[in-house]
Amino acid sequence: MLNIPVLEELRTKTDLRITFLDETTVRRALQKKQSSEIPADLFRFECMEGKQGQCVWEDHPALRSHRALYAGLGSSLTLESYRQAAAVARNALKPWSARSVILDFPSTLPKNLSTTEVAQAMTEGWLLASYCFDRYQKKIKQKEPHLSFFVKEKREKRQVERGIKQGILFAQATSFARDLVNTPAMHTTPKDLVLAAQELTGKGSQISLKLFDETKLKRMKAGGILAIAQGSMHAPFLVHLVYKPVRKAAKKIALVGKAVTFDSGGLSLKPWEAMVTMKSDMAGAATILGIFSVLKELNIPYEVHGIFAACENMPSGSAIRPGDIVKMMNGTTVEIITTDAEGRMTLADSLTYAAKIAPDLLIDLATLTGASVVALGEEVAALLSTTNRWKRHFLNAAEESGEKIWELPLEKNYEKLLESDVADLRNIGNKYGGALTASLFLQHFVENYPWIHVEMAGPAFAEKVFEPYIPKGGTGFGVRSCLHFLLS
Ligand code: BES
Ligand code: ZN
Ligand code: ZN
Repeated sequence: MLNIPVLEELRTKTDLRITFLDETTVRRALQKKQSSEIPADLFRFECMEGKQGQCVWEDHPALRSHRALYAGLGSSLTLESYRQAAAVARNALKPWSARSVILDFPSTLPKNLSTTEVAQAMTEGWLLASYCFDRYQKKIKQKEPHLSFFVKEKREKRQVERGIKQGILFAQATSFARDLVNTPAMHTTPKDLVLAAQELTGKGSQISLKLFDETKLKRMKAGGILAIAQGSMHAPFLVHLVYKPVRKAAKKIALVGKAVTFDSGGLSLKPWEAMVTMKSDMAGAATILGIFSVLKELNIPYEVHGIFAACENMPSGSAIRPGDIVKMMNGTTVEIITTDAEGRMTLADSLTYAAKIAPDLLIDLATLTGASVVALGEEVAALLSTTNRWKRHFLNAAEESGEKIWELPLEKNYEKLLESDVADLRNIGNKYGGALTASLFLQHFVENYPWIHVEMAGPAFAEKVFEPYIPKGGTGFGVRSCLHFLLS
């Protein structure tokens, strides 16, 4: 595992030292015209105000480093200020190759933030900003600079260390998910996702795997999964990972993900522009795999189930057609209006399966509808839920992790939009409220278990840079919210 030490003294010479300054500290220091943290030069140039996103370079021999960098934290300080500032600082050294970097842990924190969580946020920001997917490129990757934190208060050391450790795990899990999403569909086939799941199991992992291949899925009458997969040359799999904590868990939590390895739309073929990023349609499963990769190290006290139906949505002579009627695993029949509304079909059977383990809470993560992107834009996920209590906890966890999630309603009046003339349900509503009708469709398959649906069609894949620590491509959305939630 990555090691980021915490120093109590600055003995070694480093290439770069980074100090974080908020606007108030800078203003106060400017009034006094002196500060232990800010060299006089900075005032002379009067270029550092401590604004969020601001980064100022300074050479200062007294600092025992070749160069110094000052990064702004802004004025009203939240965890996100520290995450952002660390990321901005990390990005500032991209054109420059530092071998060793020291981050000054801020000596005063706002009262409502703990040392541990600030250290975690900074570590996350730094590591997530350094993420780069270059597996398919011949250009040589810049070596990661060796990072350490410096604390002035000795008693803070343990807490900073704990925060760093969590930050590393959160970032690693997120990067794990990003890699899977960024890998082209040709290399993340349903079989490849099964292999990824298998690699998480084994001795001492506390994770076991139940796998259902096509034959078993037929026996289980998983009509939704089989219908979507039938046009593809890649056979589908239902993957069920189980993590068990060392001590007997008080609660069982099921995480279900959409795992369409490529969504061409099927016979209801997508136009090419919409298809370009559809390797990301398995982001829900990628998030679950990322989460599972660190459950043990984080000592999560719950029994966690990770469930996804890996399959590909392709047009072919054997593909499902509009007008076909599919019998789902729970016996419900569905009239296919468009084969491009495939996610809810595979997810519905996955939810039916998940309900069989009688979870205390059912959470699904899916890239289900373009309509949610119309509603909330690219960076904000939607949440629809049947449980007020858990929902509040989950939204809190999302807030702390810096992931943007906004609630939409499960509007009962739209239920009739899913009525079919020939089957129990249609697989789409009308042209309005698509994120809502998709969720209402799923609700038919969760029985009465407390359920949270996270619709992340927008934020799962960044077509532009979202944040200093969220570069283009797969974002690993949901990993940090879920981990925060499982830890709280
Ligand atoms: N995978 C797509 C949703 C999607 C869109 C994800 C944009 C990421 C970015 C989903 O399977 C789909 O095609 N949904 C259709 C539903 C419609 C046919 C009711 C959509 O949103 O157009
Ligand atoms: Zn689709
Ligand atoms: Zn899809």
